[in-house]
Amino acid sequence: MARLIAVSIDCRSEEVRQAFEEIASCRQHYLIAKGQATGAVDMLLLELDSFRPQHTFERVRQLLSTAPDLEVFLTASHMDPQLLLEAFRSGVKEFLPQPLTRQDVEPALTRFEERFACKTSGMELQAGKVVAVFGVRGGVGTSTVATNLAVSVQQARRQEPIALMDLDLYGGDLGLFLDLPVSQGLTHLTRDISRLDDTILRSTLVRHSSGLQFLASGCDAYDDWKLAPGSMMRILALLRSFHRHVFVDCGHILEASVREVLDSADQIIVVTTLSLPVIRRTKRLLDVLAEARYPVGKVALVVNRYEQEQQDLLQETETLMNCKISGLIPNDYGSASEAIQHGKPLTMLAAKTSIGQWYLREVGRFIGEPVQDIASYANGQVRSQSFLGRCFANFGMEVGRKPSAV
Ligand SMILES: Nc1ncnc2c1ncn2[C@@H]1O[C@H](COP(=O)(O)OP(=O)(O)O)[C@@H](O)[C@H]1O
Ligand SMILES: [Mg+2]
Repeated sequence: MARLIAVSIDCRSEEVRQAFEEIASCRQHYLIAKGQATGAVDMLLLELDSFRPQHTFERVRQLLSTAPDLEVFLTASHMDPQLLLEAFRSGVKEFLPQPLTRQDVEPALTRFEERFACKTSGMELQAGKVVAVFGVRGGVGTSTVATNLAVSVQQARRQEPIALMDLDLYGGDLGLFLDLPVSQGLTHLTRDISRLDDTILRSTLVRHSSGLQFLASGCDAYDDWKLAPGSMMRILALLRSFHRHVFVDCGHILEASVREVLDSADQIIVVTTLSLPVIRRTKRLLDVLAEARYPVGKVALVVNRYEQEQQDLLQETETLMNCKISGLIPNDYGSASEAIQHGKPLTMLAAKTSIGQWYLREVGRFIGEPVQDIASYANGQVRSQSFLGRCFANFGMEVGRKPSAV
C-alpha cells in the first residue's frame, strides 16, 4: 500500500465505532481519526439519520462534490431497498448493516483497498523520492549531510520542489543550519494528524533562499515528544505528493517514527565515521537494518570526516561490514563548522572546498538521477549574522543584530 488510509467515523452509536475500529485495526494501513476529522480523509463511515434519510444523502452529495476521492460507507440498523438505492445514487460506496460483523465489514474493506490501490498507483508513479539520513550516533554529521544533500539538489534543480524535514526529536536544529526562523514544525502538525491536509502542511513549510522547503521538528532537546503511530507515513505521503525529492534528517535514535520514515524511504543514507567505537556501532546498526529486509541498495553507508591516511582502516571496515562504502566525505572541520555558524550550507558558503565539491558532485548518486554539473557553483561570500545572534533571535532576543544577507 502506498500510504496510510485515513478514516473518519461519524456514528451516534459507540458500539458501531468500536466494532469498526476493531476490525480495521487488524488490517495494516488504517489510521482512524479520533472524533470527527475535518481534514483530508480517504473513507468516512457515516450512520444514516433514520428520521431524515434525505438529509444524510444530501450530506453525502455535498461531501463528494468537494472531495471526489472520498469513499462513504453508510451504516444503519434498518434499510429498505428503496432507501438503499437512493443511498448508492447519492454516491455511497458500501453499506454495512448493524450490528457490524466481520463477515460484512472485511469484504467491504477488501473491495475498498482494491479501489484505493488503483487510485494511488498513479500517484505513486509521480510521487517524490524520499532520502532518509540516519546517523550511527550523535555528532557524526547527520544534519550536515542531510542539509547539504538537500540544498545541492535544489541548487542543481532550481525549478523543482525539494523538501528537507528535521525529524531529530531530541534537539533538531536544522533551522540554525539554514538560518531560518521556525515557530512551528512536525510536533504542531501531529497534534491532530487526522486533520492534516496539504494546505496545513504547506503553511508550516519555511522557504530557504535556495528554494528548498523546510519542515522543522518543532521541539527542543528537553521536550518528551512522541509522534502518534502512522503520523510520519501520513506526513511523508503528503510531502512527497508535491515535492520531487524529500530529505529527512532522522537523527541517530532508532525510535518508532524514524522506523516509519526508514520503511517508507527510497534511499537510506547511514552516516558514520572511521573511529573505533563508531565502527562497532555501525556494524550493529547494519545488522538491525538487515532484519528489515530492505531491497538491495536501499541502505547506503557514507563515511564522514574521511582522511586519506584512513585507507587501510577503510578497507578493514568494508570487510567487517561486508559492504562497499558508498561515499567518503572529506574531513574539513573548519568549513563544516563555519557553515553552521553562518547558517549557510557548505555548498553555498564553501562551494570551492573539497567538502563543498563533494556534495555538489556526488548528490546525484543518492537520488538515483544525474544532476547537472554544479560543482563549479560560484562561491558566494555572503555576509551573515553571527551564530549566537541567530540562536538568540530564535528565542526572540537580539544580539547586536546586523541585517542578514540571505
Ligand atoms: N566532513 C566534515 N568534516 C569535519 N567536520 C564535520 C564534517 N561534517 C560535519 N562536521 C562537524 O561535525 C559536527 C557535528 O555535525 P552535525 O551535522 O551537527 O552532526 P549530527 O547531526 O550527527 O549530530 C559539527 O561541528 C560539524 O561542523
Ligand atoms: Mg543533528
